[in-house]
Amino acid sequence: MSGFFLTGTDTGCGKTEISLGLMAALQAKGITTLGMKPVASGCERGPDGLRNGDASRLLAQGSSKAPYGLVNPYAFEPPIAPHIAAGEAGVDIQLATIKRAYQTLAHEANLVVVEGVGGWRVPLGSSLFVSDIPKALGLPVLLVVGLKLGCINHTLLTVESIRATGTVLAGWVANEMDPGMLARDANLATLAALIEAPCLGVVPWVEGQGPDDVAGYLNPELIDLPQNQASKIRTSQPRARRKRAQADVVGYP
Ligand SMILES: Nc1ncnc2c1ncn2[C@@H]1O[C@H](COP(=O)(O)OP(=O)(O)OP(=O)(O)O)[C@@H](O)[C@H]1O
Ligand SMILES: [Mg+2]
Repeated sequence: MSGFFLTGTDTGCGKTEISLGLMAALQAKGITTLGMKPVASGCERGPDGLRNGDASRLLAQGSSKAPYGLVNPYAFEPPIAPHIAAGEAGVDIQLATIKRAYQTLAHEANLVVVEGVGGWRVPLGSSLFVSDIPKALGLPVLLVVGLKLGCINHTLLTVESIRATGTVLAGWVANEMDPGMLARDANLATLAALIEAPCLGVVPWVEGQGPDDVAGYLNPELIDLPQNQASKIRTSQPRARRKRAQADVVGYP
């Protein structure tokens, strides 16, 4: 009953492709996985209501069939910034609603892969941001870096902001957005040197590749699975307590 929150350096950087590939990689290891897209703008109106392409693909990749409303509790029709779409629809996005849907999904699978919307600091309301979702769900973050000129700056700003919110960065994936990128390897080396989290893989730009193909470039063994984090937290507690005790001795609050 755990998961990951996938964010990216920008909209269109490959979050959905990598989410689906990660789900396939985990499923190949026997880990049941469901996908979630809590907030989506750019939805089509059908007989059953609004449907988002990302959410439908995540639902289809799931290890079991989940109700659409749990996979995508907030769906907006126009393909615009989500807080503006929500405002136009008269909807106030609530973390509690997202959390309830996530918890229901989390009971049905070993892992839930939660895809963000846009980048890390996208507003969802007057005082709510995408970055609040993983915190509310207690999920570590995986960062999808859309590999292209300018991505180092976007990556470092995003990593700094993730750390500033106190969220765990579990790893990152490089997704090649520009097959002709100059100095690709040097960019990758710079990213690897500056991001203090494991790189789970480098996914090449290949038109029409599916989740199983993407999974082949990802190494889920490098993911610090939440189960492992839980045991780490348990083992590190005595040291934290010791530190607190020392602080008490020297008179710190
Ligand atoms: N490695 C790749 N090879 C080929 N096409 C790719 C690759 N990664 C992404 N794409 C394509 O680029 C487009 C954007 O990718 P994707 O939808 O995964 O981005 P996203 O970050 O999820 O976008 P959004 O912010 O809209 O959710 C899609 O058409 C997708 O199929
Ligand atoms: Mg997407």
